Amino acid sequence: MLILSPSILAADFSVLGKQIKEAENAGAQYLHIDVMDGMFVPSISFGMPVVSTIRKISELVYDVHLMIEKPERYIEEFARIGADIITFHLEATERPQEVIEQIHGLGKKAGLSIKPATPVEAVLPFMDKIDMLLVMTVEPGFGGQSYIPESTQRIRQARTLFEERGLHTDIQVDGGITVDNVHVVLEAGANVIVAGSAIFKGDIGSNTEKMLGAFKEFQGI
Ligand code: DX5
Ligand code: ZN
Repeated sequence: MLILSPSILAADFSVLGKQIKEAENAGAQYLHIDVMDGMFVPSISFGMPVVSTIRKISELVYDVHLMIEKPERYIEEFARIGADIITFHLEATERPQEVIEQIHGLGKKAGLSIKPATPVEAVLPFMDKIDMLLVMTVEPGFGGQSYIPESTQRIRQARTLFEERGLHTDIQVDGGITVDNVHVVLEAGANVIVAGSAIFKGDIGSNTEKMLGAFKEFQGI
């Protein structure tokens, strides 16, 4: 199944709730929530009060992308305030296995993310334990960057590694995805598509419909 996960990092925070509803009403299935700590990535975005507040207004699947050092410190808190999927970075912890178990122990789906410079093979020990692999298609930290072309091969490699193990795990892509290049990542094997600027800059409803239309076109529907 192809899934759209609009990233609120590109939203207008003065009307965040309204903008989330626009994307939801137009058919988005997930909501991508980028949490940054100013350590793992240079920027700081937002934290628990924002996530728990917006949780109340939507039925979307809350897809929380933790760009924070030692994510094990905060898994319980994000689960408690309503995250459905919790994705952390392989580069941010010495205990990825334990973090996955922590997330599953709280009844949530576990996502594992790798930055563009991390070899895809680094996720091999965790492939059969995670619900989603996030292959970053830009350097994490900021919205509005351009897709890194080398990502295509990395997505393909990840899809092949899952297939070789008989796994149908979700592959998420995040960064620089637009209605014009989304077919490239879909063709390579991604099925959960994060889009920030492409959804929240301009008319959110029509941007969402266009992206979902591109999914259908790819599927030949
Ligand atoms: C980058 C974030 C992304 C970002 C994507 O660190 O993880 O989720 O919001 O934004 P766009 O789609 O504008 O590249
Ligand atoms: Zn993200």
